[in-house]
Amino acid sequence: MANIIEVKDLRKSYGKGENKVDALKGISFNIKKGETFGFLGPNGAGKSTTINILCGLLSKDSGHVRIFGNDIRKDFEQIKQRMNVANAYTHLNNSLTVEQNLRVYGKLYGVKDVEKKIAEVADTFSIVYLKKKEAGKLSSGENTRVCLAKCFISDPELMLLDEPTVGLDPDFADKTKEYIREYQKTNNTTILFTSHIMSEVEYLCKRILFLNNGEVLRLGSSRQLKNLVKTQIVELTLGMKKDKALALIKRSGGRLINYDSEKIVFEINQLNYSLHDIMHPLIKAGFKIKDMHIKKPTLEQVFIKISRGEL
Ligand SMILES: Nc1ncnc2c1ncn2[C@@H]1O[C@H](COP(=O)(O)OP(=O)(O)O)[C@@H](O)[C@H]1O
Ligand SMILES: [Mg+2]
Repeated sequence: MANIIEVKDLRKSYGKGENKVDALKGISFNIKKGETFGFLGPNGAGKSTTINILCGLLSKDSGHVRIFGNDIRKDFEQIKQRMNVANAYTHLNNSLTVEQNLRVYGKLYGVKDVEKKIAEVADTFSIVYLKKKEAGKLSSGENTRVCLAKCFISDPELMLLDEPTVGLDPDFADKTKEYIREYQKTNNTTILFTSHIMSEVEYLCKRILFLNNGEVLRLGSSRQLKNLVKTQIVELTLGMKKDKALALIKRSGGRLINYDSEKIVFEINQLNYSLHDIMHPLIKAGFKIKDMHIKKPTLEQVFIKISRGEL
């Protein structure tokens, strides 16, 4: 499958001398046609810097960036008509109304039936009631919805979505996530997607690149990323007195997290111990297991562990 985006050894710094920030320290990745590719990483990781370079808002210091097979520095004019971006920095003209802004973008992108398309995206992103409102007077969530409309107005082959659900209420964020997935399937759009909401990234993206401090830490599917966490959390309900059970769990390698009269919660480091190592002594000692839950690691745990340098 063809690569729509190819990034090799991309570097970018801001500022000079003592104030210099190395925002991208040589990152590489490719995105294939029709792929929704996720960018995950803590604040300041370099996600927006990458997206802003890809959409021409920022220039790179070094490295290679090709979009649709074209060099972004040489052939940007050919690239830009075929892609669109939604992010918090989208510059809406504050003194124009929402409708006027959309019209400007529609014309810039050469949208054929602009008025029809404005009506369509306004309906999709529930901004019909905002059409006559000045862009400078929008709330944060309204601004996000207008930016989404601005991105979808040109039906681009490539979408760069930098936290496109920021400020949206949970219901609308959920609908947006569903809409992006449906739209992507129908149009085979290529999408670069960033969000702090793990469930969105997991729902939309087959491959996820984990960025931290300007470097690629991991690249893989959400399952591959979750497999990096080698601890298992077990919730156990026993039908009898627990003191001896607690001691047995500790002795056989479990790390107690908490317990009450009902439940014991403990963690197993799977590098050194298995569930069997812990359950076997309990059963042998005559404990009856009434209920047991094994909690799978979540992408959130992976995010926290990678960010803290624990993985
Ligand atoms: N215009 C700028 N001037 C100086 N530093 C910047 C600028 N934009 C971003 N940075 C810095 O570059 C790093 C990466 O930022 P950014 O790409 O916005 O990260 P993310 O989108 O992952 O939160 C951060 O340390 C940030 O403070
Ligand atoms: Mg950002």
